[in-house]
Amino acid sequence: MTLQEEITRRRTFAVIAHPDAGKTTLTEKLLLFGGAIHVAGAVKSNKIKKGATSDFMEIERQRGISVATSVMGFEYQGAKINILDTPGHEDFAEDTYRTLTAVDSVIIVIDGAKGVESQTRKLMDVCRMRNTPVMVFINKLDRPSKDPFELLDEVEAELHIKVRPLAFPISSGPTFKGVYNLYERNLSLFTSDEKLTADASTVNFEELSNPELDSYIGEAYAEQLRQDVDLIEGVYDDFDREAYLRGELASVFFGSAVNNFGVRELLECFIRIAPSPRPAPTATRQVEPGEQKMTGFVFKIHANMDPNHRDRIAFMKICSGRFERNKNYLHVRSGKQLKFSSPTAFMAEKKSVIDEAFPGDIVGLHDTGNFKIGDTFTEGEKLKFTGIPSFAPEQFRYIENADPLKFKQLAKGIDQLMDEGVAQLFTSSLNGRKIIGTVGALQFEVIQYRLEHEYGASCRWEPISIYKACWIESDNEEQLKDFKRRKHTNMAVDKHGNDVFLADTSYALALAQENFKDIRFHFTSEV
Ligand code: G4P
Repeated sequence: MTLQEEITRRRTFAVIAHPDAGKTTLTEKLLLFGGAIHVAGAVKSNKIKKGATSDFMEIERQRGISVATSVMGFEYQGAKINILDTPGHEDFAEDTYRTLTAVDSVIIVIDGAKGVESQTRKLMDVCRMRNTPVMVFINKLDRPSKDPFELLDEVEAELHIKVRPLAFPISSGPTFKGVYNLYERNLSLFTSDEKLTADASTVNFEELSNPELDSYIGEAYAEQLRQDVDLIEGVYDDFDREAYLRGELASVFFGSAVNNFGVRELLECFIRIAPSPRPAPTATRQVEPGEQKMTGFVFKIHANMDPNHRDRIAFMKICSGRFERNKNYLHVRSGKQLKFSSPTAFMAEKKSVIDEAFPGDIVGLHDTGNFKIGDTFTEGEKLKFTGIPSFAPEQFRYIENADPLKFKQLAKGIDQLMDEGVAQLFTSSLNGRKIIGTVGALQFEVIQYRLEHEYGASCRWEPISIYKACWIESDNEEQLKDFKRRKHTNMAVDKHGNDVFLADTSYALALAQENFKDIRFHFTSEV
């Protein structure tokens, strides 16, 4: 196969959802279609039962299993599909956000009874920032759900994206009849506990006026469906793939993941419309996937769970060319040539050493502590991929050394954990104290635990009241200077020395934005 053919057949995406909407279930059904797993429960068994342990232990255990599920690859109808896992716990980590920088599209799962929930919104914010193409799967139609039109409006309003249903449900809950596929113009009839293929219960209907429809779903539902489809075709424009690819239009499907209903339709449409690896921006130029020379960047680093082995796995997304085992690549940040004798790829829950990989693929690289998030590998060109941001943390604490004899260990531990992207470190301009900022509160416990068990260091947290950290810059140097002088007590620097404003309240932030018009306040920062 040529490089271009390998690229064209690749689809790298993430399934994202608010916890409990059905992300794991859908992922598992997709893997079953691909033959990547053979029994239901293979992915699920990795999931930690809710309430069985403390939240903190749950995070630790998820960290343990998440290497296995970080990337799940499978083949379906000639396509090579890579699903990237986003850690599923209620409590967000930056990892979740950053994984989205390595995908070419996403499928958002929404619980039909609950509609759009808080984490769906947050994840969508990141997708919007990058114009990531979005498909929506509205799940659990076998349970009483909200009105489908209401759900479509909700998705549009809450996720700020235009929608176009490509399937439409006929009732829900105990009277759920099935889904009409507007894309293929056929009707899938619902019987719970479907087997692998839903084909047996799919009926083609070019014309919904066909009276036979009534015999399948009953007169009343048939009439309702005709009206609904008329309405959809009247209200929504035809599906515009270009708008979808620009991230402006989400295609919407309905189904029931646990019953494997509507999943095949979703997958087959996904293969047809979802993008293959897209060009990737760097500080100097855009890299096209079809370029002969290999380039890639690290978007996630996973530490070994065994405290005696500090080794880590760095996850690299290939952006162009052919990656080969035992070939020298330039690690741009250090200027060193490195080769990898056992790069790994991930097929479902299995990890194996590979000889080559292509754009869109994720390769696991063995790391002894030298790599950082955002590191670029090339065949010699000094590129730096952009768009791999740090996200403005929302929780903050001062970190203090609790054992004066272990000062060095603490410094090293903090340094490495920050490289992994576990949290962010800021140094206060006021008093030089170190502040750790995270996206989710439980990360503080994880950091404390890992510092102790992996680095033999001990830390103590002290409260600090900050609403949000934002990176500031301006072309108006006078104003920037003035701002930093006046806000001296609220200024800090990140680990790269960039200026960060630590706003106490949303009001203080709004006021600062109002009074200092020439200053740009950023809520993400390039790493
Ligand atoms: P998550 O990864 O998004 O957190 O969700 P997950 O797939 O674990 O699904 C959450 C719960 O919702 C699970 O039930 C799952 O079985 C159920 N579920 C998923 N899809 C559907 C669906 O289409 N219909 C219905 N009725 N339920 C669905 P659980 O009780 O938490 O786990 P389990 O005991 O069933 O494994």
